[in-house]
Amino acid sequence: MIRKAIGVLMILTAASFALPVIPTTLDSVKVPAKIIKGSGVNWTGKVTYYLSVGDNDSLQIVLSIAPASTTPTAPTCTVTKTSGDAGIYPMITGLNGKREIFFECTFASAPAASDQYVATVTVTPNMSANEQLARSVLAAIPNNTEKAKILCGGNGVAPAQHDAFCTGDMNGGTYGTVVGLSTCDGPHGINGWGWGQATMFPCNGTTANAWDTALTYQIGQAIAQEAKGLWQGRFQLLGPMLNLVRDPRGGRDYETFGEDPYLMGKLASVDIRGIQSEKIVATPKHFLCNDQERDRTQASMNIDTVTMRQTYAYPFEMTIREAGAWGLMAAYNKVNGVLCTENSFLLNTILKKEWGFRGLTISDWSTMMTVAAGNAGLDVQMPENTVYSKLPAEITGGRMTQDVLDEKVLRVLRAKAWAGCMTTYPKTIGGYTIQQLHDGAGGINHQLIADTAAHRSIVLLKNDIPAGAAKPILPIDRTKTVAVVGPYANILRVGGNGQYTSSKVKPFESELVNTPLQAITRKLGAAKITTDINAADYIVVVVGIASDEGTTSAAYEGQDRPDATLSIPDNGAQDQNVYVQGILATKKDRTIVVLTGGAAVTSGAWYTANAVIYAGYGGEKQGIALADILVGDYNPCGKLTITFPVNQTDLPTFTNADQYVPYEKANEGRGYPYYLFAKKAPLIPFGFGLSYTTFTYSALNVPSTAYIGDKLQVTVNVTNSGATDGVEIVQLYISQKTPVANRPVKQLRGFARVPLKAGQSAPVTFNLKEWDFAHWTLASGWIVDPNSTYEISVGKNSMDNAALTSTITMLPAD
Ligand code: BGC
Repeated sequence: MIRKAIGVLMILTAASFALPVIPTTLDSVKVPAKIIKGSGVNWTGKVTYYLSVGDNDSLQIVLSIAPASTTPTAPTCTVTKTSGDAGIYPMITGLNGKREIFFECTFASAPAASDQYVATVTVTPNMSANEQLARSVLAAIPNNTEKAKILCGGNGVAPAQHDAFCTGDMNGGTYGTVVGLSTCDGPHGINGWGWGQATMFPCNGTTANAWDTALTYQIGQAIAQEAKGLWQGRFQLLGPMLNLVRDPRGGRDYETFGEDPYLMGKLASVDIRGIQSEKIVATPKHFLCNDQERDRTQASMNIDTVTMRQTYAYPFEMTIREAGAWGLMAAYNKVNGVLCTENSFLLNTILKKEWGFRGLTISDWSTMMTVAAGNAGLDVQMPENTVYSKLPAEITGGRMTQDVLDEKVLRVLRAKAWAGCMTTYPKTIGGYTIQQLHDGAGGINHQLIADTAAHRSIVLLKNDIPAGAAKPILPIDRTKTVAVVGPYANILRVGGNGQYTSSKVKPFESELVNTPLQAITRKLGAAKITTDINAADYIVVVVGIASDEGTTSAAYEGQDRPDATLSIPDNGAQDQNVYVQGILATKKDRTIVVLTGGAAVTSGAWYTANAVIYAGYGGEKQGIALADILVGDYNPCGKLTITFPVNQTDLPTFTNADQYVPYEKANEGRGYPYYLFAKKAPLIPFGFGLSYTTFTYSALNVPSTAYIGDKLQVTVNVTNSGATDGVEIVQLYISQKTPVANRPVKQLRGFARVPLKAGQSAPVTFNLKEWDFAHWTLASGWIVDPNSTYEISVGKNSMDNAALTSTITMLPAD
């Protein structure tokens, strides 16, 4: 590989506008940068630079490359393609606030090794029409009292339609009435809070098990389409939730995309892109460390900055930088003693300044905040107006500047201008109702997406060969009889089932027939179904964790699971483990255990069954998917996105009676890195899942060296070595070997969902970039240590002993 350094000269083009209320001056520029490689006439490269600007600028960024004055006759160069920050700047793609442009270029003829080039990045304030509109509406608002109205809840404020999910209307002067910010929950379907029904997709903790970016995008898009159909079309969706599963006791584990920060960041990013493709504001929540429900409005999550940045803030950083989320919800809890709504370090320093967030921050509902939130970077208070109606007085009292208030309003108006919802609420495509969107109106069919999601997210955990049999118990022989029993055999499971659980989704009546029992009965015919477990050829036992408000052993918003119930719990009616054990005692060879619920369970009788299926909370089509998998009409392909511990003593401390929750150290990790660090074997590792076919991996190809900042590719060959078509989820992990770094011992940095026909092979490519190798340091932010070496392993799960491994060394770029 020929490498060549090129100098970079930054030229700034100043510009002035008639409209701005907020200054648009570029305030500092630093220019390192250079890295280019190639041969012949086609080259690729990356320009990096630092540009610190006011929060409110919209920038046009253009890259050009020309011969330097030292070699003026060098062949001319045309930039043919750019990505990263080039174009209209919406986000910061580089690390530590660094901006980067990846480019491809073509030279008129091959340049000589001695030829020098100058790359010029031209940065021009370039207000889009939306930005101009937002600023001019801001300028037209008659006074601060009006401005404050759109920044807080309409509770108790006329007009009456302002419910607990909409901020107040505002007088926009010549622009007329700017309507309030209408919001709704939530992550796996819209929560109408009594307003109606919606498509119930699997909870995100279950969807995650599909490791499917395209599907997750479609779900985000569908939920956004339905949000527009809610009474007073909703313009902002309060999700997705990005708090990591720290512990299987966490009350809201089911709402979030699992335990791994990278997987969560990737899935949440596509979810957000899907939501925002409909011009609905996505709101990653709850920033930050709302990882448990105990004392959620008061507890302080005490965490060091390295752990915070590498693990808990990581998915948020990814969604802001890579998906350009327009909203963000501050958590109820405190981080290191400071309420998240009043946490300037989190909201101003990290989110707005370093990550370049241009959208609006919103409080969680009824957070115990004070006016201190005003200067700390919180833009909107919900659902009350008790605090933010006082912001004008903060200005007259000299405690807050006019700019701070204007910035908040501008952030709301900017999102409204983007969505085209300045003076009206959004409306659904074609004016369809939510039910029509669900049923298949105008080519939109949300129930099909829910159906795909239910199938792809089910995980087969065990499928052993019963005593005396020739093959595994699953798929079952469809000519035989089946009993479908257990406490959750005949209900459609809802994650977060309660009046006050924000993620509850109420499915349409047409879906209530999709319980496991009903769906299996339809699949096999009523004649094959029996209630007599003694006579049945197969017994499908559906057990799990409840998510019903008020149930002692349940997990839901506001309640973590009690310590005593970490295996499948007593659900109030019976101890489910004892119940399962009773069946297995005499009928083990024909029993299939199905686990529903939103979190891991510890070992117990359930795990001694020959076959175990983890169904999670699979949404309105879960029963159908389960029936298809049981009989082999669908080959299970999901893989776990949480670790199942052997027992409770394997878990780090979770108690926090004193309201201070000590977080782990950065190198200790949580989830699978913790088990590797502590040298404890989990019951079932993160990433695990079986199929009715088998897959083999070969020909792992990792370059032995790469330059820091280069994009690089890792390839592997995957073969479906069985007799059934299937899908394999291939996982790539890195471990930094030298120098020793303050980071988890192993980290997921790539995954691919690979459909393969029986006998088929396919190459799988992972594209890795600088951030994938970086760890966070107090001194320098994200860094890749020069000459550091990493083990790269590509395998079937986080603890796959047969994973293919190789080593790579990262060389300094300069
Ligand atoms: C929850 C949020 C939710 C909000 C509005 C809060 O209690 O923590 O996740 O978006 O209510 O329903």
